[in-house]
Amino acid sequence: MTKKITLLLTLFFPFLVLAQQPVSIIPQPVSLQRNEGHFVIDGHTSIHLGNGKKELKPAAEFLAARIKEISGYDLPVKNRKGKAIKLSLESINSLGAEGYQLQVTPSEISIKANSKAGIVYGIQSVLQTLPAVRTNAALQVPAMTITDYPRFTWRGMHLDVSRHFFSPDAVKQYIDLMATYKLNRFHWHLIDDPGWRIEIKKYPKLTDVAAWRVDHTDKPWDARPQAKPGEEPTYGGYYTQEQIKDIVAYAAQRNVTIVPEIEMPGHVASAIAAYPHLSCSGKAQLPLTGGDYTNMSSNYCPGNEEVFTFLEDVLDEVVALFPGQYVHIGGDEVDKSGWEKCPKCQKRMADEGLKNVEELQSYFIKRIENYLQTKNRRIIGWDEILEGGLAPQATVMSWRGESGGIEAAKMGHDVIMTPGSPVYFDHYQAGPEGEPLAIGGFNTLKKVYDYEPIPKELTAEEAKHVLGAQANVWAEYITTASQVEYMVLPRMLALAEVVWSPKESRDWASFNQRLQPQFKAFDQKALNYSKGNFTVDIKPSSEGGKLLVTLFTEAMNGEVYYTLDGSEPTAQSIKYEQPIRIDSSVVLKAVTVVNGKVMGLKPAEQSFSMHQAVGREVKYDNPVSKHYMADGPNSLTDGVRGRHAVGKYWHGFSGRDMIATIDLGEAKSISNITLGCLQHYRDWIMMPTAVKFEVSTDGKNFKEVKTVKNPISLNAQEATMHDFKAAFPEQKAKYVRVTAYHLTSLPEGHNGVGKPAWLFADEIVVR
Ligand code: ACM
Ligand code: ZN
Repeated sequence: MTKKITLLLTLFFPFLVLAQQPVSIIPQPVSLQRNEGHFVIDGHTSIHLGNGKKELKPAAEFLAARIKEISGYDLPVKNRKGKAIKLSLESINSLGAEGYQLQVTPSEISIKANSKAGIVYGIQSVLQTLPAVRTNAALQVPAMTITDYPRFTWRGMHLDVSRHFFSPDAVKQYIDLMATYKLNRFHWHLIDDPGWRIEIKKYPKLTDVAAWRVDHTDKPWDARPQAKPGEEPTYGGYYTQEQIKDIVAYAAQRNVTIVPEIEMPGHVASAIAAYPHLSCSGKAQLPLTGGDYTNMSSNYCPGNEEVFTFLEDVLDEVVALFPGQYVHIGGDEVDKSGWEKCPKCQKRMADEGLKNVEELQSYFIKRIENYLQTKNRRIIGWDEILEGGLAPQATVMSWRGESGGIEAAKMGHDVIMTPGSPVYFDHYQAGPEGEPLAIGGFNTLKKVYDYEPIPKELTAEEAKHVLGAQANVWAEYITTASQVEYMVLPRMLALAEVVWSPKESRDWASFNQRLQPQFKAFDQKALNYSKGNFTVDIKPSSEGGKLLVTLFTEAMNGEVYYTLDGSEPTAQSIKYEQPIRIDSSVVLKAVTVVNGKVMGLKPAEQSFSMHQAVGREVKYDNPVSKHYMADGPNSLTDGVRGRHAVGKYWHGFSGRDMIATIDLGEAKSISNITLGCLQHYRDWIMMPTAVKFEVSTDGKNFKEVKTVKNPISLNAQEATMHDFKAAFPEQKAKYVRVTAYHLTSLPEGHNGVGKPAWLFADEIVVR
């Protein structure tokens, strides 16, 4: 059709244009064809059940309840004459266990699937085309044909209810949101240091004592003091077994399986507050406060048989409540130093021939796995369960990046990808200016959307062990259910598309379009959500002696305006059209503008410092870690200095020296070379022990101009940056070589003592 005719039709037949309106569903279905017309749901519509009547009844009731909520219509579930929504179980191989076929014509809606799960997903797709809240408008479902099925079987969301407690209703709402976007595994983090949240009938103190702490919710998490003797624990809560049964059934109706996490052997200060004999010291401890755990016992004692009796009793009650195949047993972040000093632990190690405390943890986890196998359950653990030997059938949840997941998949174990970057939803998604206080990090909507759960390191065969991906929502800084909504909306929708839709159909612009009606639905339902990341992404790239900067905004219909003179950008500043060439030292500031309005509280800002090596090629003798590539191979010569935060800007080297050679393009007169480095103790990133600076005219024979020793204390725990500097008499050089020697052994007192440190470098400045 020519443009002219389309325009005419638009003017004279607006209904035709309406018929062409795209259908907006998240996650994007595998195939969707829009047809002409609508099916109108009204008081004459009924729900017909075909094959699988009995099994489909809860799905039909779910649909009827939703229609009633938005329209007041009571759709009968019976095969009466007239317009119908037909649900039927069929054998359609290509759909798999959770897929569905949906056919909407003006006279009927038909959903077919192999399972109730598929039918529920067909219903969810229909519901996404309808109003979100009560309306008197006609309920028009666009005529269309959909064939749809998920890419991954594990499409998870986690929620920490220990750091802060969320009511059963809030949990149900969370599950309902998950189900709307076809997410199917709810990882319920029920236990952690600050609170035990599941009723265990045999151990009443778990709910009388371990579920409560001294209330310091008025203070940020990291500013909460330890309790003083005599302070009353008044903050907390738990789920009764009756409430849990109700939530499990609610989830099942929506095809959500709950995976309870019964954390062990660490992160259990709560259990030990209730039953001190379960720790190595056996000492009573102060009430919890939720923040500071120094001087508290947080681990079970693996040398004590009573610990296993206790956990087996607890797990008996857990498996009776949760019908799913998996129990998550935690296993993360155990400070095992107490086990080194405990006579019972030492005896256990001697008796079982365990060489170190990592093997003691592995013994612990394997024993629990054995027990759960007798209950027909499989275990999942955080990637630390690889240390000391992985339990034979365990599934690994990879959170410290993807390396644990890769290792486990190569060993033939199933894995679930939940890397901190980008799927920890407790991290900032925007700002951080103007955002609610969060734990740190910066996982924007687009970063989540771009996540690929299958690492390149895996062969096709190994990749089959990647069951899918999951976002984790830790609640240290999340104090209310409304804030939970804010942290997951809309990032949960991006994750849903990552784990459901075919990889080839991933399309940021289309997703951003389809998100807009969802935003409207959130508004109508008074859900708290993030309107997006308006911080302009500034991406330098240096090549062939040139420094180019690309600017990008995630905002729908966003434009970018910038300044180079340090002034605040406005909608009247320079409009960004193409990569900007930088050839002098400048401060770049950029803002997102939507409909003429500057968005966000603070412009993105980057200073560029010009020097002789900017834009020049860097070659490394040892490869840069793929996790810390900064902005690409020439990040050390892009004129951009690293900042205190780990991540962006820094080139990381794991357990090896950095040997970087820069080709200056031609012989230049130089008299200064500087290497910037970062120390971030908690993240195992330490200063190099020394840095050697060399120059050369031919790239073969290098002359040392200086070696500088590290002046920064190995115990400096604050993020610290330091410039290693060489000043020397001016001389001609075409090549510069900088060698930074990594710390081969983390210091005493560090939780990685004896292991090699990371080395983080940014910018080799040559003047
Ligand atoms: C974790 O984030 N500690 C699993
Ligand atoms: Zn012990």
